[in-house]
Amino acid sequence: LNNGLGMTPPMGWNSWNHFGCNIDEKMIRETADALVSTGLSKLGYEYVDIDDCWAEISRDDKGNLVPKNSTFPSGIKALADYVHGKGLKLGIYSDAGYFTCSKKMPGSLGHEEQDAKTFASWGIDYLKYDNCNNDGSKPIVRYPIMTRALMKAGRPIFFSLCEWGDMHPAEWGAPVGNSWRTTNDISDNWESMISRADQNEVYAEYARPGGWNDPDMLEVGNGGMTKDEYIVHFSLWAISKAPLLLGCDIRNMTKETLDIITNKEVIAVNQDPYGFQAKKVRMEGDQEIWAATLSGYRIAVVLLNRGPVRYSATARWDDIGLDPKTVVEARDLWEHNTLRTQFVGNLTVTLGPHSCKLYVLKPVA
Ligand code: GLA
Repeated sequence: LNNGLGMTPPMGWNSWNHFGCNIDEKMIRETADALVSTGLSKLGYEYVDIDDCWAEISRDDKGNLVPKNSTFPSGIKALADYVHGKGLKLGIYSDAGYFTCSKKMPGSLGHEEQDAKTFASWGIDYLKYDNCNNDGSKPIVRYPIMTRALMKAGRPIFFSLCEWGDMHPAEWGAPVGNSWRTTNDISDNWESMISRADQNEVYAEYARPGGWNDPDMLEVGNGGMTKDEYIVHFSLWAISKAPLLLGCDIRNMTKETLDIITNKEVIAVNQDPYGFQAKKVRMEGDQEIWAATLSGYRIAVVLLNRGPVRYSATARWDDIGLDPKTVVEARDLWEHNTLRTQFVGNLTVTLGPHSCKLYVLKPVA
């Protein structure tokens, strides 16, 4: 969407994966505090996104959305001021239907302009717009109504389409939103995570600055996967130019979680100015090679073992668009070291079960 936002994939945090409907203003403020105190905000994690369940089930007598008094008694404007005071941005959630997915609050269908104005007046910077409980009309009809409402609202608001990929939003999302979900909801396990990465990969060519494919939010730190699996999760999201929206309780993280989500070199792959989403360039049994061109004549490559046993994987220059004779320097982004050997033609590694390596390859002049 041509609103100047999302020139690189959005980074931040969202309440849904960890907290579901169990949210309140105190927890959101503490999360904003933690984004700063952990150093995450300096790395680019800037959005604090409130998901479903923040509003009363009924609008007021003028038809306005009303923050839930029992959990957001100070209102959303006060929260936005607090979050902005920390140099962060506030996101909120609504739905292109009569009720949101939880059915615990109203949707914006038929109230698009009014709600967009409300959000802008509160200082909202990001809107996630879901697709539950709608009138049966096509998303391609309902979503642009909110796009136009936001464009008129007088404040730049990142627009995240949450249509779950059913109507292939990658094909029509670019003029409508800044990102579009390509999948159903992620859960905190390997199968769910890896299948979302697969479904999202299909649409790689549609990603570009200002409009990103969204395989759903991160589960890193929620406890359902091993460290290696979370590294695969973060690596694939990074190389796929997916939104990096943390979904754990960042007030209480282990060092392991923090180490994964603060890997600057991996974040830099995600935030590369070219915005090319990785594609699978080879699939052989449980071995997969994902590659994406980066700025500066570099290529990011994930060598992935999807299987339960040790396996060796090879990235071939032919597959990733390099002349086979090119001499390449390889930087291991999880080990933070540049390999002493240089490579010609291919690079082979051995991978443990459900694990990956992420390299940046650079031709040696
Ligand atoms: C849908 C969305 C989720 C979350 C919930 C909230 O399932 O896909 O990401 O927003 O609704 O109810």
